[in-house]
Amino acid sequence: MGEAADPAREAAAAAALDRIEDGMTLGLGSGRAVWRLMELIGEIPSGRPRLRAAFASDRTAELGRRVGIEPVELDGRTRLDLAIDGADEVEPDLGLIKGGGAALLREKLVVSAADRFLVVAEARKRVDRLGSGFKLPVEVVRFAWPDTQRRLLELVAGADLRSEDDGSPVVTDEGHHLLDCGVPPEGDLRRLGEAIKATVGVVEHGLFLDLADEALLGRDDGQVDVLLRGGG
Ligand code: 5RP
Repeated sequence: MGEAADPAREAAAAAALDRIEDGMTLGLGSGRAVWRLMELIGEIPSGRPRLRAAFASDRTAELGRRVGIEPVELDGRTRLDLAIDGADEVEPDLGLIKGGGAALLREKLVVSAADRFLVVAEARKRVDRLGSGFKLPVEVVRFAWPDTQRRLLELVAGADLRSEDDGSPVVTDEGHHLLDCGVPPEGDLRRLGEAIKATVGVVEHGLFLDLADEALLGRDDGQVDVLLRGGG
């Protein structure tokens, strides 16, 4: 099971396998839950389904090659049948925080090209309000990033530059930095997202609101909670 040796994640990934049909064009995000699902696709005993996918990170693309998923480009014409991705926090109405794995920009582009968006995550990531247990990642251009940080601090409670273990700033697949921002405990998150997005120097943020259609949330006992947009 390798990196995914977590029963909750395993349960969610296994449940997601049932949503995949032969011939689909997928969007695949980034993170341990999605990577575990991709490993499971590669292990299907009856043979791998014929799948194509847009990949949201270089690492996901590499795993896709290994398990035989044909890459597709988002060329303005390609529509994805189903995007599948993990999350760092999940609200009851399927609002998400994403970006813990530094791939939020490509992930939002992939999700935006899909007819449906399925979230695969651990039930422990459920929260009543986004930002209560995880900082909001905001992707910013490298040029003058401290000025962007200063502007963001008028909107959020802290904006820390994300660093690698050696202390150097994280650089995303698209060549940007990340600021991990504290979400204020009150206030409208849609308006916060709009204000962050309108800040000079910001490329994208990790609030994924009104995008997910369904979430499969695995529990440690192997059960899976299914959440649908709009309840039900
Ligand atoms: C990457 C992401 C990931 O989907 C998120 O961090 C969850 O990852 P994991 O499944 O490893 O917990 O948003 O940018």
